[in-house]
Amino acid sequence: MSEAELNRGQKLRDIKRFNAKKYKELEQRLRHRSSPSEWEAVMKDSENVLEIDGLKVHFYTDIGTVKAVDGASISIPRGKSVGIVGESGCGKTVTSLSIMRLLQEPQGQIAGGAIRFNPGSGPAVDLSKLPQEKMERIRGGDITMIFQEPMTTLNPVLTIGKQLDEAVKFHSQKNSNGSRRIAARSVEMLKAVGIANAEGVYRMHPHELSGGMRQRVVIAMALMCDPKLIIADEPTTALDVTIQAQILDLLRSIKSKTDASIMLITHDLGVVSEMADIVLVMYAGRVVEQGPVREIFHNPCHPYTIGLMLSRPGVKSSGKRLYSIPGNVPNPVELPDYCFFRSRCDSSIRSCAGAYPPMARIDASGHCAACYRHVNDAGGASHGKK
Ligand SMILES: Nc1ncnc2c1ncn2[C@@H]1O[C@H](COP(=O)(O)OP(=O)(O)O)[C@@H](O)[C@H]1O
Ligand code: SF4
Ligand SMILES: [Mg+2]
Repeated sequence: MSEAELNRGQKLRDIKRFNAKKYKELEQRLRHRSSPSEWEAVMKDSENVLEIDGLKVHFYTDIGTVKAVDGASISIPRGKSVGIVGESGCGKTVTSLSIMRLLQEPQGQIAGGAIRFNPGSGPAVDLSKLPQEKMERIRGGDITMIFQEPMTTLNPVLTIGKQLDEAVKFHSQKNSNGSRRIAARSVEMLKAVGIANAEGVYRMHPHELSGGMRQRVVIAMALMCDPKLIIADEPTTALDVTIQAQILDLLRSIKSKTDASIMLITHDLGVVSEMADIVLVMYAGRVVEQGPVREIFHNPCHPYTIGLMLSRPGVKSSGKRLYSIPGNVPNPVELPDYCFFRSRCDSSIRSCAGAYPPMARIDASGHCAACYRHVNDAGGASHGKK
């Protein structure tokens, strides 16, 4: 056997041993009966419904540790709509699954950071540390999720009505609602999401509905328990264009009618510009730029965001070849210790070879970018607008 083969064999054994250790640590954590002092939290800003602070999510795979999310920080203010954008694989879905604690364990685990959730009444909690049974009360109740593919949420063997009713029964206090009242609320909710034949749909199974109708049902289900936070992960991507527009209209009307905060995940900048109050741009598991939607679209500062804007199809670009950012996203198993975008960046300067750039403030609107082009010599403050 050659030396290279021996080294490879040793590397694989080391990875397996390391993964086994991580799986065992998770098992011990799950068995541990934690006390409220371990999962109760204090929000940095009481106006936020969610604060993700330095979140790290790792997948312990046979080829090594995939750092899917590597220190992402995201705040979602009460009643606001926050758009998360970034190309495929940057960690958007993994971030939302971490909030819901739906990661594929034991391979996928929250490896660091906090996910503070403010339910409005009672103390805030760190969802990353919350015991499973408490998480089940929050999931689908205070925090709901609309997935890209509605069949991920719907059970094919139960009627729509049964599924909507069950969601309410599970999350409401005992005896607070009679079955007839719950059924009436389910039908009312189906009407609210624009389903004309609500009574008929209530009795149907998911396979009897079109993709757009199913997504409406999923949205109705997400609204049933008056959630504080709705996570919509690419809610229109699986639908055809005309239906996409209808579902976006529906989400927009929900946004104006409910107090819930919305975390809208998409790779489509057009959707974000129409729907979001605040935009966060993710790249390779980290947030690289954030700010009010107008700021991000009119004054993008991070070279990655600028590249995303340039690669957006528009009326003016019709007939022209679209810009595409050169190079590839770094391997999530071997992330560099300098700016993750450096190998693709056409604006790099000397300091970019140093440590990963800090978040630099662009202006007082909350606009900031993790880029040395905006960090002054004191390290942190901005050079101002470009
Ligand atoms: N079950 C898994 N096992 C290994 N790696 C995974 C798994 N799920 C996601 N990843 C990796 O995590 C990274 C982020 O994925 P994801 O959050 O799905 O991206 P997106 O931004 O497109 O939603 C990707 O590199 C992906 O390959
Ligand atoms: S820190 Fe440097 S390499 Fe990274 S995006 Fe900014 S200019 Fe480019
Ligand atoms: Mg995704």
